[in-house]
Amino acid sequence: MHVNRRIMNSFALALPPQSRSSPPSGRTQEIDATSKSALEQRYRHVRSFSEKLCQTLEPEDYVIQTMPEASPTKWHLAHTSWFFETFLMKQFFQDYDSMHPQFGFLFNSYYNAVGPFYSRTHRGLLSRPTVKEVFDYRADIDVLVSDLIESADEELLAKLEPILILGLHHEQQHQELMLTDIKSVFWQNPLRPVFRTRDEAETLPMPLMEWLRFREGLYWVGHDGPEFSYDNEGPRHRTFVPGFALASTLVTNAEYLAFMEDEGYRRPELWLSLGWNAVKERGWESPLYWEKRDGRWFAMTLAGMTEVVPEEPVCHVSLFEADAYARWNGARLPTEAEWEIASSSLPLNGNFVESELFHVTPIASSASDGRPAQMFGDVWEWTRSSYSPYPGYTAVEGALGEYNGKFMCNQYVLRGGSCATSQSHIRRTYRNFFPPDTRWQFSGIRLAKDLI
Ligand SMILES: [Fe+2]
Repeated sequence: MHVNRRIMNSFALALPPQSRSSPPSGRTQEIDATSKSALEQRYRHVRSFSEKLCQTLEPEDYVIQTMPEASPTKWHLAHTSWFFETFLMKQFFQDYDSMHPQFGFLFNSYYNAVGPFYSRTHRGLLSRPTVKEVFDYRADIDVLVSDLIESADEELLAKLEPILILGLHHEQQHQELMLTDIKSVFWQNPLRPVFRTRDEAETLPMPLMEWLRFREGLYWVGHDGPEFSYDNEGPRHRTFVPGFALASTLVTNAEYLAFMEDEGYRRPELWLSLGWNAVKERGWESPLYWEKRDGRWFAMTLAGMTEVVPEEPVCHVSLFEADAYARWNGARLPTEAEWEIASSSLPLNGNFVESELFHVTPIASSASDGRPAQMFGDVWEWTRSSYSPYPGYTAVEGALGEYNGKFMCNQYVLRGGSCATSQSHIRRTYRNFFPPDTRWQFSGIRLAKDLI
């Protein structure tokens, strides 16, 4: 490898001073992973899971890009490695000499401060580097990261660790995108390939929805504390929330079918104006991936086409569809503050990617215990909150300040994680965000109501 591995003892980073002493886009001290072995183990665990996800893919699968907002699997695998090379290797190895200087252009996603980057919409046109070369690139980066950790003294370790942890959370985000993007690739193919086989879900009783009431008050929301979070989750602050009710369960396929059968997609009065435009222009008649065959609804899953299960949470709906469904139901979507307040006493358990089902599950029990069910995992829950900065928020200076802050326009917040999210990646304060017409993520609906 053509790389000078002398570590910068003087720590002459290109990052701004603020970025040197605190994690650039995630604020953390990550006390749990202070030892080198724990850090290396965590690194290997996350990196190897990306490769585990690829076990059933063939080389042809890695290259396709179905739409501008999705990326080929090969690009995700390379980009996550580029992230470590750019923000660790180039910062902490003196006179770092990249083995693939041109990869900086191909696999920089959107960091203007790092340099120019290849067109996002054309990522699927890159036959080179090959899949094998990308895996070799990953392996080389893994060796360098391991070298960096092992040879760092305590002071340097304290400085590189927050960036490394950020890189691992970044990779976990991309693992979810790898799944949603390969689902889109397989959906494009009339053969409807299977990513992973899955046993048929057990039939369970239809969940009974209850309205759970929450008092008005001044609540604390947002992240605070030593553990990792993205910068957009803070500062923790108080917000006044009027009394509200939250549905104890997610909206199911059966409930959503009732909306469809009541002409939900043909009634403009139910839709936001932009949503109605989307319905007409794109011919929406059902959630993404649904297909009617001989009068029965089927849906594309990562296990291929399967019949829609009435008891499962509805998935792959846009904010526009979630909002129209809520209006049809005489309800509304929750705000992100309401969602966070309602989840405050719940354990962070659910159907996450670790289950390797890669699909939503019906609620485990129809009995309500007075707490909202399936708040974490299964589907990201749309909120009616625009993705905007919390009071006092400022993005850090420098390239990694571009991670979150510059996207705070024309997007909506989703909460709770999905069956494609890592459990070790999600938090109660986690703010995911997508444009309101987005449907290819594992996104679903929970209803709310005013109590006024
Ligand atoms: Fe990224």
